[in-house]
Amino acid sequence: MSSEYLLEVRHLSKDFPIKGGIFGRQVGSLTAVNNVSFKVKRGETLGLVGESGCGKTTLGRCILRLLEPTSGEVIFHGDDITKYNAKQMREIRRKMQIIFQDPYASLNPRMTIGGILTEPLVIHNLFKTQQEKTKRLYQLLDYVQLPKDALNKYPHEFSGGQRQRVCIARALAVEPEFVVCDEPVSALDVSVQAQVVNLMMDLQKELGLTYLFIAHDLKVVEYISNKVAVMYLGNSVELAEASELYGNPRHPYTKSLFSAIPKPDPNASGDRIILEGDVPSPMNPPTGCHFHPRCWLASDECRSSYPESTIYTPTHEYRCHNPL
Ligand SMILES: Nc1ncnc2c1ncn2[C@@H]1O[C@H](COP(=O)(O)OP(=O)(O)OP(=O)(O)O)[C@@H](O)[C@H]1O
Ligand SMILES: [Mg+2]
Repeated sequence: MSSEYLLEVRHLSKDFPIKGGIFGRQVGSLTAVNNVSFKVKRGETLGLVGESGCGKTTLGRCILRLLEPTSGEVIFHGDDITKYNAKQMREIRRKMQIIFQDPYASLNPRMTIGGILTEPLVIHNLFKTQQEKTKRLYQLLDYVQLPKDALNKYPHEFSGGQRQRVCIARALAVEPEFVVCDEPVSALDVSVQAQVVNLMMDLQKELGLTYLFIAHDLKVVEYISNKVAVMYLGNSVELAEASELYGNPRHPYTKSLFSAIPKPDPNASGDRIILEGDVPSPMNPPTGCHFHPRCWLASDECRSSYPESTIYTPTHEYRCHNPL
């Protein structure tokens, strides 16, 4: 793998046990992520979209080994970190951080912002003197454009957007290279979302960060991402450069997702595709292509065999027997 790629995920899968009965024995398993592969270039953003429950968070957590993948490899800096022991993981964890959707739930309400930002510096032994620590805290606040007096305040004294800035500063405290952003702006007001997204893009440029950016909002993902992966029921069904994917989706599921993006012109031809039925349960996925029960192009082949990945262009691949 050339060093232009910071991260490569190979055939990653994650099964969860399903427990049942009064003794809580395992009665089955659920495949939350199924054989997902992609690469992310250093300094770039891979967007991850798909309906609720399709496995986005599980995938992000497996990459960081906050959850153990069932199978597959996560190549970070040219090394498969799924083979790392606890000590090796502790060292590499500094390089990989995560930002969550709900900034309030992920900040300790009893700690000041100063305390919250100092914690990772202490854990990773990142300062020697008090001056060094204070200088670093001011730099972190400066990154996320919060005033110096924020250090003595508590999370409840801030707005949602400001709290998310604190979470970003905390993630940056350890000088990561790769950040999983799990719906970082979904809980914020629309007016604040753009500010936080722009801040994240500025920081990416300034610090050379690589992002995995998970979001429901397809416009936000298009704006921030270089490449985008579309997930359906644990599978990556289409992966392409953002402009290619949005301009020329090949998978019917991708097309249906994008057709739901509101058009700037309300009189534009309404080619919205409304899918029939609900997302099937990952505990009992349909045979063949998992999307076939809701797909208007499904054929017998789709009902019987799961499609292999088709390389459409060097930067665009999909899994579909009957692409658009
Ligand atoms: N710890 C767990 N034990 C069992 N099943 C789980 C666990 N965590 C997630 N799942 C299941 O795995 C599937 C994928 O969940 P995940 O949270 O990754 O989806 P998601 O795409 O992040 O959804 P959302 O958009 O709502 O955040 C779901 O069916 C979920 O119920
Ligand atoms: Mg999620």
